[in-house]
Amino acid sequence: MHKALLEWFEKNGRHALPWRQTTNAYHIYLSEIMLQQTQVSRVQEHFYPLFLKHYPTIKDLANASLEDILSHWSGLGYYNRARNLHKAAQSLQKEFPKTKKELLKLAGIGEYTASAIASFAFNECVAVVDTNIKRVLQRLFNKEKLSNKEALELANKFLNYKNPKKHNLALMDLGAMICTAKEAKCELCPLEPFCKGKNEIEKFLSQAKQKRVQKELHFAISVDKNKIALTPSSGSMYKNMLLLPTPKSKSKLLGSYKHNYTKYNLTIYLYNSSPKEQNLEWIECDNFLQAPIPTLIKKAHPFIKNYLSSKKMQEKRV
Ligand code: ADE
Repeated sequence: MHKALLEWFEKNGRHALPWRQTTNAYHIYLSEIMLQQTQVSRVQEHFYPLFLKHYPTIKDLANASLEDILSHWSGLGYYNRARNLHKAAQSLQKEFPKTKKELLKLAGIGEYTASAIASFAFNECVAVVDTNIKRVLQRLFNKEKLSNKEALELANKFLNYKNPKKHNLALMDLGAMICTAKEAKCELCPLEPFCKGKNEIEKFLSQAKQKRVQKELHFAISVDKNKIALTPSSGSMYKNMLLLPTPKSKSKLLGSYKHNYTKYNLTIYLYNSSPKEQNLEWIECDNFLQAPIPTLIKKAHPFIKNYLSSKKMQEKRV
């Protein structure tokens, strides 16, 4: 089974992914954090190269301000990942931890991420179990119910001790490309001859899609002398970031737009209104997009520009 898996991987694996072409532990660490909740293509094409350009070493990350890091994380969502990266970078005294055991001590690093970095950066002999790999193991060994602990035990039993890194990456790619949640392309699978679940594959296929939640948000556009009012977010989702403030009045609607974020389908309404909040930060309108704001607020930018130009026209007329 190990041989069949690695032969398939050599020919079909996603070897061109940039974080697979390096052994720089910081780069691999960053990729794993980004990939936790973001699609491979978005990380690969945009966020990973951009972030590394700004913070080429973990020292650069440690020396940057949290606001600066959050503004470069904008668009990725799940901002706690960025806060933990900063915390972890600042906690490092000398060199990057080299073992799973040491990695587990860093902020934001759990079982999966510690194993992934230990395996992919240092070739440590540890099993890596993400949701893809767990699914492959469940089907391969025909285990409909498998706790995370049991999956890890099974993965350790099945680990290829001669080639642990390639084995883990191969299982990951098999789960992402062949043995996917919605379908199993058994005819293309190198492990098909050994698979105990292949004849009962229907019971493993997921139909369930997470229900999306419709939500409306209301924000104030309040401008004074080319500065726009923002307010620190009070919720945990956007902690340390700025948002547009809440409108005092909803009588002057400037526009609306849609934004999808995690499970939410948001409709955002913008009003010309003074803000309800007392706690305001006035940002130059020209610097709006560089502020630590999430994408849902960045999308208000064209409306702000429109509002500013119509305000200027009015002032001219007066
Ligand atoms: N290569 C290494 N880790 C990966 C991940 N989490 N997703 C896709 N490819 C990877």
